[in-house]
Amino acid sequence: MLSEIRKEDNLNEYDPEFIRELFNRMSGSYERVNYITSFGFSLRWRRQFLKSIDKTTEPIKIIDLMTGMGETWVPIRERFPSAELSTLDYSEGMLVHANHKNKKSFSGKVIIHHQDLLKNSLPSDHYDVVLSAFGLKTFNSQQVVRLAEEIKRILKPGGKFSLIEVSSPDNAMLHALYKLHLKHVVPICGKLFLGNPQEYRMLWKYTERFGNSKSAVQQFRNTGLNAEYVSYFGGCATGIQGNKL
Ligand SMILES: C[S@@+](CC[C@H](N)C(=O)[O-])C[C@H]1O[C@@H](n2cnc3c(N)ncnc32)[C@H](O)[C@@H]1O
Repeated sequence: MLSEIRKEDNLNEYDPEFIRELFNRMSGSYERVNYITSFGFSLRWRRQFLKSIDKTTEPIKIIDLMTGMGETWVPIRERFPSAELSTLDYSEGMLVHANHKNKKSFSGKVIIHHQDLLKNSLPSDHYDVVLSAFGLKTFNSQQVVRLAEEIKRILKPGGKFSLIEVSSPDNAMLHALYKLHLKHVVPICGKLFLGNPQEYRMLWKYTERFGNSKSAVQQFRNTGLNAEYVSYFGGCATGIQGNKL
């Protein structure tokens, strides 16, 4: 609820410009660090979060929000081989890699929107499916409400959505291990690949503040979307799935 905005939400660490710069700085190493430090789980989770959307060979319209370097494009193409895939991100650094991947492996067919999601010009009632992987944590509660409103606006009536985010597991033992991993091991890998672990430490900070997708589910419901909570691997990732009525 807006009246329950957390204290941290006021920090400028949720300023879209701050986040954009953070991802620009990480763009040289993000894909490798992400894959290695998640022991391949990020790839598995990317496949799992698509499963709530029925597999089809129809030419449906899909958009992958906060697409980064296009890490989710291959699983999307495997499940929806004839879909028209649109994507959106605002980090120039991440999009350099996305554009390269588009030319090299997707014959330039992926439509890439270089825009801030919170101020986008995407068409209304247009997409059959909205997807987003690992972009929720850097939004504060007001921005999550805005995200939900935008998803509702751009989806066709009856259209479906699925989002996933790395989360803080409820189980104390798993939480301690995961914290150790994300707070200390991942920044070391970030240092090895990038020379500066600070950016990867920030990601744990966002994950810890984010907690899990439960409050976001409520915010999605408040906008009138049909939304349910999903947990992956003991809550190490959680998500929101649903549809526009
Ligand atoms: C953690 S990365 C996730 C990338 C990719 N989806 C994946 O599965 O790994 C988050 C991405 O969200 C993008 N992002 C964050 N806030 C955004 C905003 N307001 N508008 C557009 N993109 C945003 C960042 O630039 C970054 O590329």
